[in-house]
Amino acid sequence: MPATRPVPAEPPRDLYGKERSDRATRVLDLIAESRLRWTTFVNRKEPPARIDDHRIPLTVVERRVEAHDTDVISLMLVAQDGRRLPAWRPGAHLDLELPSGRIRQYSLCGDPADQHSYRVAVRRIPNGGGGSLEVHDQLPVGTPLIVRGPRNAFPFVLPGYGSSAARVHFVAGGIGITPILPMVRMAHRLGVDWSMVYAGRSRDTIPFLSEVESFGDRVTVRTDDEHGLPTAADLLAGVGPDTSIYCCGPTIMTATIATAVRSMPGVEMYSERFSAPPVVNGTAFQVELAASGGVVDVAADRSVLEQVLEVRPDTQYSCRQGFCRTCKVRVLEGEVDHRDTVLTSAERAAGEMLICVSRCAGDRLVLDL
Ligand code: FES
Repeated sequence: MPATRPVPAEPPRDLYGKERSDRATRVLDLIAESRLRWTTFVNRKEPPARIDDHRIPLTVVERRVEAHDTDVISLMLVAQDGRRLPAWRPGAHLDLELPSGRIRQYSLCGDPADQHSYRVAVRRIPNGGGGSLEVHDQLPVGTPLIVRGPRNAFPFVLPGYGSSAARVHFVAGGIGITPILPMVRMAHRLGVDWSMVYAGRSRDTIPFLSEVESFGDRVTVRTDDEHGLPTAADLLAGVGPDTSIYCCGPTIMTATIATAVRSMPGVEMYSERFSAPPVVNGTAFQVELAASGGVVDVAADRSVLEQVLEVRPDTQYSCRQGFCRTCKVRVLEGEVDHRDTVLTSAERAAGEMLICVSRCAGDRLVLDL
């Protein structure tokens, strides 16, 4: 009987997917690199559209409503100078610099084979941090936009190309379909054995429904209003040994699957979360904001970012998971309990801290805010 493989608890450290230096990633890298070299040769007067290593000026060329309740729209983005765009692989995302200065991350949900446009989709979240409302209300066709990336914190490894699994099972919940859709397309195109459960509140609320249903009976769509809340057995129907599960959706759905997978020999799970991870082994402490002298109490189960946002709602953040660096702050006093995966030892020694995940190793921090 195959051994149970551990469930990865966190996204890979390397945002470009290089940490998983398995055979599949190397093969995909070689394919991508040779395609890039060929394209560079053919288009040697047309390098990729970048203004520096990470930022690309794009224009919104198309907006579409993707869910019947109109709460999800997609944006098609092309380079302002019409040049081809940097290549990406399923699971990658872009950082969008919104007109207000907010930075928000959205998964690429188009076709990686399309070298001249990116597609992202965004659900309107009325009580969120404002980023989704800005995308919905302030980015009409023709809007110029700077993006950073693409970066990949959720790399997809195909059976037969490095993964020892024989098949893939996808689970998507609502807007969680966005990173999954390019994976499904790639698996289907390469003849991989795959299946999928796509869940949501109702058929009106789930985006890209007709696109997903075009894959036929490999896909099971189940909605809460028709079938009730899904159990782990519903979401993992038909999953047996030697299966890789790729999951993206609400935290409760991901946690339910992760728990079930622990008792399923030969099943491995990879997931991407859209929300901040819960604080584990936290203790309460205080944070002083040096510029104002204000003091914020940080509860044992809350992040510094959450508590600082209550008094400084303009504080910059994006991923809330400790890998995009947007919330980086300098620590003037106090000892930091670093819980991110990206700051270098030099940055830590210089007093930098990511306040979305890292905490205080004592009882007080003074931040350069
Ligand atoms: S918000 Fe992304 S690292 Fe903190």
